[in-house]
Amino acid sequence: MALVNSKKMFELAYKNGYAIGAFNVNNMEIVQGITEACQEVKAPVILQVSKGARAYANHTYLVKLVEAAVKECPDIPIVLHLDHGPDFETCKACIDGGFTSVMIDGSHLPFEENIALTKKVVDYAHAHGVTVEGELGTLAGIEDDVKVEAGHESYTKPEEVIEFVTRTGVDSLAIAIGTSHGAYKFTPEQCTVNEDGILVPPALRFDILEEVSKKLPGFPIVLHGSSSVPQEYVKMVNENGGKMPNAIGVPEEQLRKAAELSVCKINIDSDLRLAMTGTIRKFFNEKPDKFDPREYLKPARANIKELVKHKLVNVLGCAGKAEECM
Ligand code: G3H
Ligand code: 13P
Ligand code: ZN
Repeated sequence: MALVNSKKMFELAYKNGYAIGAFNVNNMEIVQGITEACQEVKAPVILQVSKGARAYANHTYLVKLVEAAVKECPDIPIVLHLDHGPDFETCKACIDGGFTSVMIDGSHLPFEENIALTKKVVDYAHAHGVTVEGELGTLAGIEDDVKVEAGHESYTKPEEVIEFVTRTGVDSLAIAIGTSHGAYKFTPEQCTVNEDGILVPPALRFDILEEVSKKLPGFPIVLHGSSSVPQEYVKMVNENGGKMPNAIGVPEEQLRKAAELSVCKINIDSDLRLAMTGTIRKFFNEKPDKFDPREYLKPARANIKELVKHKLVNVLGCAGKAEECM
């Protein structure tokens, strides 16, 4: 089927207690790994493109790669989404250029300015059948050029969400409840050690999520910064010449719980990067004489596919839901 916007997916995800995976795409192998996994387990999916991805791969190449995935995966609905749209012009370029969903990220702006910018994007997007995600609250970590130092993040204020959603007309809202971007979400000092000696990060602020949901019944919530940073891939990186000490992500049980509540979209990027980089590092460590990109990109793509399948089936709960979302 043709690309779709996120409206129906979110309605069903909310109603039936699952979340749609929103995976960042930057090149062909990542698009293929994700969509082959979704096609195999019949999961709806959001493919998202950041400002950095557009700068790296070029808007047209990315749209055409996603269109190829639509053709190759006829049994699943696919949304093409702008991740962290920085301004109206970028959102407009994506809406005019084939995207079916955009995020306008005004979370760093004062409340009134965030509302004004978000509403401007909503008005243009809705006139073109495109859905819009807004954001309230700031996550720590790096998104394109915006770096929020740990300690300077701010949780979403539940008392602001009704006014924001009503005045802007957004279709979904990203909130800050303790996740952050990148592979270093928590320091070891923030974690406790369980009986198996494994570091357990502090719980997400489900109290804030619940308060937000009470104020916005039936409204789709989005979680950014939701990579779990699989330790098998951190180990693979570190055993093959990499240096990623103390890379810690969000435990998958917490994401599963969020997906069963009002969270309808869960953003995952760093996990894919880790799977790709770990696999390629291992490949070169074991086969230093190889130089054909197809030989090392093939296992990297296969591991992205396995990782995405695991997320769809065991974390997001959206495997088998493609048909109802068509
Ligand atoms: O939130 C950020 C996403 O992980 C995209 O990252 O800006 O490096 O493409 P990027
Ligand atoms: P991660 O860095 O946790 O993968 O988050 C990605 C994200 O939120 C993209 O918008
Ligand atoms: Zn994000």
